[in-house]
Amino acid sequence: MKHKIVELFIYLSFFLVGGIVIFYGNWVGIFFIFFSIWPIIKTKILARILAKIKKTRSKWAIRSSSFWFDGFLFIGSPPLREIRRFAALSRSLDIIYNYFGSFGIEPKYIKQDWWVHLTNLDLINRIIKQWTDFWMQMPIAEDVRERLNIVSNEIFEFIKKSDKNEIKILSLAGGSNQDILMAVSRLQKERDGIQKKVFLVTVEPDGVFGIRRFRELQKLFKIDQNFFSYQEIRKKISLESKKGKRITDILKTENIDINSFDIISCIGLGDYIFGKDKLKTFFSLLDHEAKLTLVANVSDNYIERFFLHILIQWPYMQYLNFQTFWSLVRDVFNKKSVSIIATKNGIFNVAIIKK
Ligand SMILES: C[S@@+](CC[C@H](N)C(=O)[O-])C[C@H]1O[C@@H](n2cnc3c(N)ncnc32)[C@H](O)[C@@H]1O
Repeated sequence: MKHKIVELFIYLSFFLVGGIVIFYGNWVGIFFIFFSIWPIIKTKILARILAKIKKTRSKWAIRSSSFWFDGFLFIGSPPLREIRRFAALSRSLDIIYNYFGSFGIEPKYIKQDWWVHLTNLDLINRIIKQWTDFWMQMPIAEDVRERLNIVSNEIFEFIKKSDKNEIKILSLAGGSNQDILMAVSRLQKERDGIQKKVFLVTVEPDGVFGIRRFRELQKLFKIDQNFFSYQEIRKKISLESKKGKRITDILKTENIDINSFDIISCIGLGDYIFGKDKLKTFFSLLDHEAKLTLVANVSDNYIERFFLHILIQWPYMQYLNFQTFWSLVRDVFNKKSVSIIATKNGIFNVAIIKK
């Protein structure tokens, strides 16, 4: 409770300071400077102090909403609040992927008419809707959706062209595995009589949202259970390549041979491995007999870094530009062919590694 009051104060203080400045000094400029630097003070200075008091990490210390993002007009925007609260988890991506219905489904917790009854004032509701649409169209959000499409398309093309009767996919940190399910659904639609089968092993620790949403998506995408089967492994893979938590060791305890997979996909996890050598070691643990391996990285997003990490409080990521990422992946998978597709705004690079 004590901390909630502190956070409320932090949230309100730019209005207090801004109000005082305007009222007494009429220094609108200073007010706006304060608006601009306030998120930095909040996340860099106050969050660290609060983290010490709360004995937690600074990224968890202040999760109060931001006026410029999810707390617009105090009433707030539920979709943006979800994105901020569940940053880096598939619950957050579920909103970004499906907010505009681009893939034929709605996010789990945000329905199409979410804004209609926010307040009794239609104008306010419309403004918040427009505000939310604006953020949902920011380049990084567009590129997240495009990354999903690219990965899904690669999986679709691979299965379609494969002459095997059963395709085995290993998905690491796949969240709700929307990319794979979209590919499977497309295959079902394009083929009258399905002869092939798809078997997925998904290693994903988030059972609260990720795995549940994965099961729900199978229904939403009308996945035929005769065609698609899966095994869930709810475990965290070590990002430090520690023995016992490495992917090969996790699979061994389940009696699964990593060399039995046709496709290995690991999207959105490497971004949180800091240091090129560590990332190389992590990727080298994915270099097996698979005919198709998919990994990705976040390249850069210039001004959006500010919004992403300061305003939205998305955890920090390892940024590698196209060239660096390309040579890193090529070094690791040096016996395979590597091609990289960059998303439209150049924010993500998807590496397509073929044997
Ligand atoms: C940014 S999301 C990406 C989800 C999915 N690959 C996608 O592209 O939609 C990151 C996912 O990694 C999972 N994750 C985080 N740490 C992990 C770890 N150490 N091992 C396995 N999965 C992890 C999270 O639960 C989350 O679902």
